Amino acid sequence: MAMPQTETVHETATTAAPDIAVSARNVSKNYGPVEALKDLSLEFPRGQLTSLLGPSGCGKTTLLKIIAGLLEPSGGDIQVDGKAVTGPGPDRAFVFQDFALLPWASVIRNVAFGLELRGINKSEREDIASRYIKDVGLAGFEHSFPHELSGGMRQRVGLARALSVDADVLLMDEPFSAVDEQTRRKFQEDLLALVANENKTFIFVTHSIEEAVYVSDQIAILLPRPSRVSDIIRPTGLREKDSTSIRRDPEYLDIVDEIWASLRSYVE
Ligand SMILES: Nc1ncnc2c1ncn2[C@@H]1O[C@H](COP(=O)(O)OP(=O)(O)O)[C@@H](O)[C@H]1O
Ligand SMILES: [Mg+2]
Repeated sequence: MAMPQTETVHETATTAAPDIAVSARNVSKNYGPVEALKDLSLEFPRGQLTSLLGPSGCGKTTLLKIIAGLLEPSGGDIQVDGKAVTGPGPDRAFVFQDFALLPWASVIRNVAFGLELRGINKSEREDIASRYIKDVGLAGFEHSFPHELSGGMRQRVGLARALSVDADVLLMDEPFSAVDEQTRRKFQEDLLALVANENKTFIFVTHSIEEAVYVSDQIAILLPRPSRVSDIIRPTGLREKDSTSIRRDPEYLDIVDEIWASLRSYVE
């Protein structure tokens, strides 16, 4: 008798509607005569990583900036926990592509900077910062300066800073594009662990099909501008796998092929 009951519970759990942290509702953005986004709608489930995948210039950064509240949409809106975004807020943190670190400040000061801006006292913010410095694999570098670190390590400092302010939503704009291939792979593995361990909503921009399939719970494929979501792919089976074997998994290879087949006609 125990078996059917267990199965019923399992069924309920997997079919329950996801908890939506962020939703983009009919978002449009024009830059003068240039239509970057047109009527784009997309929901971002809490605790999951959603990738925005699309060709260069399709409006990925534009959408991220609108979600961050740094840019106003020309139409539609963004809702975070059911409330419309009207500007930047502590619930959302941007991990910038160009690191945006303070060159004159140590790693720990850089990581704690967002907390310093919020008036949190030094010992408390250094405790919090130390924890995230360890989580991103930088233990021992607390007192180093940005110029003493590799590009990959600086990127980790930026990530630790975004995590330490405890924003619910982390916005990552091609965070791995400036690092070498080995560093990038290590980062992708670490990112999977972060998504699994932190109940945060990750919105991740990439133009790499392989990267999107490797790290995402949900992949939104964007068309060339004016951009809309053309397809949503959920590599759910892969999220159960060990991070070191995903790239050899038949499901991984099939999804990569499927996405390439749908995007190739847009590549000149
Ligand atoms: N400030 C701006 N002024 C005018 N056009 C812009 C501006 N920012 C972006 N664009 C244009 O909007 C489109 C989308 O840009 P962007 O969001 O940066 O794309 P992606 O991040 O996908 O490469 C591009 O055609 C780009 O040239
Ligand atoms: Mg961009």
